[in-house]
Amino acid sequence: MDILGIETSCDETSVAVVRDGRRTLFHRVFSQTEIHRPYDGVVPELSARAHLERLNPMLDEVERSGIALGGVDAFAVTNRPGLVGSLITGVAAAKALAWFFGKPLVGVNHVLAHLYACFLDAERVPEFPFAGLVVSGGHTLLMTLRSWSDVTVEGRTVDDAAGEAFDKASRILGLGYPGGPEIDRLAEAGDAEAVAFPEITMYNKRRDNLDFSYSGLKTALLFRMRERPETRKEDAAAAFRKVAVSVLKRKAMRLCERRGLRRLVVAGGVAANSLLRRMFSEPGPVEVFLVPRELAGDNAAMVAGLAYHRLLAGGVDGPDLNASAENDLEVAEGGRRR
Ligand code: KG4
Ligand code: ZN
Repeated sequence: MDILGIETSCDETSVAVVRDGRRTLFHRVFSQTEIHRPYDGVVPELSARAHLERLNPMLDEVERSGIALGGVDAFAVTNRPGLVGSLITGVAAAKALAWFFGKPLVGVNHVLAHLYACFLDAERVPEFPFAGLVVSGGHTLLMTLRSWSDVTVEGRTVDDAAGEAFDKASRILGLGYPGGPEIDRLAEAGDAEAVAFPEITMYNKRRDNLDFSYSGLKTALLFRMRERPETRKEDAAAAFRKVAVSVLKRKAMRLCERRGLRRLVVAGGVAANSLLRRMFSEPGPVEVFLVPRELAGDNAAMVAGLAYHRLLAGGVDGPDLNASAENDLEVAEGGRRR
């Protein structure tokens, strides 16, 4: 079964066709980085416009690659969570395609789709149940997954998302946007031990707590650079990265231990981080499935892939499918919405 996926939740426009949730037949990602760079962050209005401009040419490309749009079996789209104006562009396109060709429409949760990126074109995929860690510009979530429709959120950030913290740290250090790759690059040349940041990312030191907090670490970096401006940026970046990443590993392992999970899937834009990749690749009691670097960021293959499983489980949407900024996984958590 071939599914065409569309991703427009933030600053990447992407279209993909994936066969049986596993084999990527077509995949294009257009990054809007250059559009947002002058503003040091994503400008929602510009993002929505850029999606509108890019989507149709990308769909033409699908046809030019030899895949007839009318020949695919379903149309999938990220419809939550994300920037509403941006999501709407993808949702409208997917709806139009599904209606025109008389094929099923499948709305997909972006955060779960990130985890699915580990299942694409992979030789080895994890069996359920597993722990999932999604670290991106908008999300830092720890989950237990028993199936694609049985997901429990176990931990989240109480303030900044991990990627957001990297982006803010980059601004503090006067580096570019997006900040994650910049900090990562600089950190490789720095000495993490030269600057001491407390592990304030450990939101609440209670043993059973699985939530994160990044705003204190960001502030510690700000004060350090203000009070001791002679601090080498490389060292500050390295120290920041070390604390930001270690806490992710510690809490992910804590979740596995607590729930008796032996597999962990790590995905999202921050999973491209070099130190994170080294840390999560260290051998240990939990088998770690780390998203391939090229699929860590937003992309449509993960959307088309996850949609296959939703479709198999009867998860078809109607023409009333809407875009939503909220993550239904978290809202479903009875009052723990942030
Ligand atoms: O998953 P993603 O592409 O978009 C969202 O869903 O948010 O993640 C983007 C985030 C940005 O905050 C970016 O700075 C961060 O991922 N990022 C990194 C690295 N590459 C991208 N953070 C740390 N280290 C990296 N190498
Ligand atoms: Zn994302």
